Amino acid sequence: MSEELQVAIDGPASAGKSTVAKLVAKKFKYVYCDTGAMYRAITLAAMQAKVALDDDAAVTNIAQATVITFKPGNRVQQVFIGQQDITQAIRKPEVTNNVSTVAAIKDVRTEMVKQQRVIASHGGIVMDGRDIGTTVLPNAQVKIFLVASAHERAVRRYNENIKKGIETPLVQLQKEIEIRDKKDSTRAVSPLKQAEDAVLVDTTSLSIDQVVKKISTIIMKIQHEL
Ligand code: DC
Repeated sequence: MSEELQVAIDGPASAGKSTVAKLVAKKFKYVYCDTGAMYRAITLAAMQAKVALDDDAAVTNIAQATVITFKPGNRVQQVFIGQQDITQAIRKPEVTNNVSTVAAIKDVRTEMVKQQRVIASHGGIVMDGRDIGTTVLPNAQVKIFLVASAHERAVRRYNENIKKGIETPLVQLQKEIEIRDKKDSTRAVSPLKQAEDAVLVDTTSLSIDQVVKKISTIIMKIQHEL
């Protein structure tokens, strides 16, 4: 029986983390945890409660009181706050454009990291985010840092949006991605940063299959070494 590993996949917005992480989890029969969805869930809960997002204490109260759960879905993993299915709502532009503010609140991060460590505690997990390899699971046996150029990421987002019937100009998407990158990598608490022992994978000119293969090879190699 192969070892049930912790696989940490970090990287900037729209680098393909969730698509790839989901496929890798499926291949190894691991659990997939999208930590970005957790920050999005808290952002949505705070907006629904009409709390000012720069009120750190109020948003932290919401984070501590909100129970976020995941259920495997057909195409996408479903996300719930209590009984409320928020899978679609957390992808809306209002949430996307506000989530960096919430993710920068120290006590919100402390709460999310606590919940994420519980989810990952039994191994057999693929967790994606920004600080998984550096902060959440510093002892993860596999750490991947996934990157792609801002232009390529904007193109991918554009194509996804078109499929959903949303038309946002490419330049605007690229600008939003660059703003989010800057906020995520310059915030004081747990900024987006490659862990020293993470493997850098540049997906700019790779297909999803190629990236999944690359990561799977790394996982299998480590499984053999243990
Ligand atoms: O991956 P995503 O776009 O769904 O992430 C949403 C936001 O949450 C993004 O601004 C970065 C932040 N985030 C974070 O700070 N730490 C994580 N582990 C995951 C996401």
